[in-house]
Amino acid sequence: MTKLIAGNWKSNPATLAEAEGLIANYQLPRLRRGFGGQATANSVEVVLLPPFEFLEELMKKFPQFKWGMQDFVSSEIKVDYVLVGHSDRRRRGETDEEVNKKFLAALGAGFKVILAVGEMQKGNESGVMDSLKASTTGVPTDALDRLNVAYEPVWAISTTPGAEVDTPEHASSVISELQKILNVRYLYGGSVDGSNIGGFFAQPNIKGALVGAASLKPSEFRKIIEAAE
Ligand code: PGA
Repeated sequence: MTKLIAGNWKSNPATLAEAEGLIANYQLPRLRRGFGGQATANSVEVVLLPPFEFLEELMKKFPQFKWGMQDFVSSEIKVDYVLVGHSDRRRRGETDEEVNKKFLAALGAGFKVILAVGEMQKGNESGVMDSLKASTTGVPTDALDRLNVAYEPVWAISTTPGAEVDTPEHASSVISELQKILNVRYLYGGSVDGSNIGGFFAQPNIKGALVGAASLKPSEFRKIIEAAE
């Protein structure tokens, strides 16, 4: 199965010029759309999720790359992927029901979706199962091949004070439980970088990464992509 590496820039960088500089610094010919051709065990798909205000401009300037929206705000912009349910939004009060509406709308509009789920506090994994069920209620079976779930324990996300990366074994065991509810492609997210990503990809059920801070550091992002190959 092709691995998916999603670079979630959140609200960085501050300007369009800096965003273009970041892309140039990636020096990644393999970011190109269509890279990989036929899916093999080692093929990798890379998608960039820039701040919304630069999205259309970047899509125009770099049509050879895959692009994603950090939240479902428009069906007019023809991105490849839409991220829904990120903890930044859940923290601001977005409920599973609201996530579910966006999720179904994004799938209904034909997009591929990355749905993020994860427990706030260590040890509350049962909440993740409930959240996955509630967020994906009503998913059409013919849309499952456009659906990706990112398991992101919130306590592991770099912007959470005191964040620590999850262990690959723990992430994989939670994903095994989630797969019993919904059998799609699973990514891990939460403080991944070039040095810890290999352990996650060694787990057979982790088929990609949702990358925050390290996607703003070209050499780290490159290492993550290389580890996926
Ligand atoms: P991080 O962010 O890689 O900086 O921990 C991941 C995310 O919030 O999606």
